[in-house]
Amino acid sequence: MKKQMLRLKIGRLAILTVSFFGAGNGYAAVANTAHNLGTTGPGPNTYSGTAEICVFCHTPHGGDNSASVPLWNKTLAAPASYTTYDSLGTTSLDGATAPVGSVSIACLSCHDGTQAMDTVLNQPGSGAVVANYGEGVWTGNSIPQGIALIGQDLSNDHPIGIQYGGGGITEASPLATTNDTDFVAPNNATINGNTVWWVDTEVAPNGTRQKTDMQLYTRSVAAIDAGANQPFVECASCHDPHSENNTFLRVSNDGSAVCLACHTK
Ligand code: HEC
Ligand code: HEC
Ligand code: HEC
Ligand code: HEC
Repeated sequence: MKKQMLRLKIGRLAILTVSFFGAGNGYAAVANTAHNLGTTGPGPNTYSGTAEICVFCHTPHGGDNSASVPLWNKTLAAPASYTTYDSLGTTSLDGATAPVGSVSIACLSCHDGTQAMDTVLNQPGSGAVVANYGEGVWTGNSIPQGIALIGQDLSNDHPIGIQYGGGGITEASPLATTNDTDFVAPNNATINGNTVWWVDTEVAPNGTRQKTDMQLYTRSVAAIDAGANQPFVECASCHDPHSENNTFLRVSNDGSAVCLACHTK
């Protein structure tokens, strides 16, 4: 009898352990970060109106598709709203600049501080499209603060919407000798007919694309090299918005590993 009870208990313990790890793998990462703005978020900014996590960025229906970003639940600004890094006129800059777009304009839909973070296209629950769903109050702030407030003047930020490696890198000539040797050669692959680009980091230097590699974003801009698919640096080249790493970096920046992944210095 006692033995049976013991087995039962051990059995339950095993089930508990399994489900604990199961839940952890499911969504622990973003839930534990400053990007969880719902009631379960760790702060500094949380909104009492919903316990949902993804809703501040993604919606299953009715997202803004004016840039190639996944199911975006906020209105994306007009690219011309931003001042770009090249306006600073550093003599060394040789990559062309594309209009602010791609994943960068999604990050900026919160980090430029122009719209409150509870302003979403498809509010949680009802499906009504309203400006502010106004179900709750903020602890902390409804827009990012301090240095996290990137603003619309991007001339004091690392360039984004910028051609990788001085430009001219195409699928046909990914490692052309004419490319800027100040940069680490990127990798590319074709996935579902789309070209994807990345730079391997020391975390996974294996020639296949991982979240811990620096992602480059394919842009095809008519004004640049006749619209050829080319790799560009965007906000999420260096950051993974779901990661639990310090400042959402794809890899630790100890030894400036983030910078040295791309720049040969
Ligand atoms: C703070 C904003 C933000 C939050 C919150 C967020 N995401 Fe994302 N997510 C993004 C951005 C930006 C991208 C595009 C990243 C890229 O292009 O590399 C993305 C990409 C994705 C992708 C496709 C690429 C990938 O990494 O697999 C999936 C799937 C995804 N998110 C799911 C989720 C889910 C599920 C949640 C909630 C548990 C969530 N996201 C919460 C911003 C967010
Ligand atoms: C994903 C690749 C990538 C990473 C990671 C990266 N950079 Fe860059 N960086 C670039 C590209 C591309 C340019 C544009 C250079 C050009 O076209 O001349 C650039 C431009 C710069 C410039 C301006 C150059 C100029 O001529 O005005 C500086 C400075 C710089 N990066 C420093 C850094 C530092 C510091 C880090 C780490 C915090 C870093 N970069 C991480 C790709 C990267
Ligand atoms: C839904 C709004 C929202 C979106 C979209 C968003 N962020 Fe954030 N982000 C925040 C808030 C809020 C904070 C915390 C700001 C503060 O401390 O004042 C933050 C903080 C950060 C931080 C600093 C974290 C730290 O530990 O100091 C980084 C880096 C960051 N975000 C990058 C990004 C990038 C890159 C994207 C796009 C891929 C993005 N964010 C999209 C709301 C957002
Ligand atoms: C080339 C790499 C790179 C790109 C591109 C980049 N960041 Fe960062 N970002 C970093 C690094 C590295 C840090 C950590 C700086 C530190 O430790 O202070 C950082 C920090 C931040 C922070 C926290 C404030 C701070 O400086 O400590 C925010 C918010 C942020 N980035 C948002 C963005 C947004 C939004 C974009 C696109 C407009 C972007 N980043 C593009 C590398 C990058």
